[in-house]
Amino acid sequence: MAVRPILRFPDPRLRQACTPVTAFDDNLRQLALDMKDTMYLAEGAGLAAIQVGEALRLFIIDPEVAGRTAEDPPLVLANPEIVWLSEEEQMGDEGCLSFPGIFVPVKRGQRARVRAQDLDGKVFEIEGEGLFARALQHENDHLSGRLLIDMVGPVKRQIIKRKMRKENEAEAT
Ligand code: NI
Repeated sequence: MAVRPILRFPDPRLRQACTPVTAFDDNLRQLALDMKDTMYLAEGAGLAAIQVGEALRLFIIDPEVAGRTAEDPPLVLANPEIVWLSEEEQMGDEGCLSFPGIFVPVKRGQRARVRAQDLDGKVFEIEGEGLFARALQHENDHLSGRLLIDMVGPVKRQIIKRKMRKENEAEAT
C-alpha cells in the first residue's frame, strides 16, 4: 500500500494543466498503483494524477463504476480524449476527493466515449453511461485544471470556499 496525500482545494497545483504521458514504464505503473490505493482508502469513484501532485494526463476510475467487478483493477486512462458526448444529459450531485464532504449538482452528458492509452501505451476506446460517463467527464476536467467549484454560481462558490477553509484549518491542527 502506498497511499499518497490528496491535494485539496484551493491548492494551486490543482489548477495546473497536465502534460501528456510519454513514458509507459515502471514509474507510471507505480503511480497508477499508488493512485488505486489512495482512491480506495478515500472511497472515491475516480482519481486524477494531479490530485496526488503529478501533473500528468492520467486518471483512474473505480472498477465497479466502470461496469466491472470489485475484484477487477481500476480502469486506467492515460492521455484520454473525450471523442463523443451524447446530446442527452444527466443532472446529479457530484463530489470530488479534493473537496471532501461537498456535493454540487452538475449537468453532464448521459453517455461519453473516451479514447485513451493503457499502462502499456496501447490505444483503446471505452463508452460509459450514467455514473461512469459522469466520472469520465469529471476526471477529464481535472486534466485542464477545471474543478467542481467552477460548476456553481457565485453564492455557492463562496460557501464552498468557506467550507474548505474550515476543513483545511481543522486538518492542520
Ligand atoms: Ni475530482
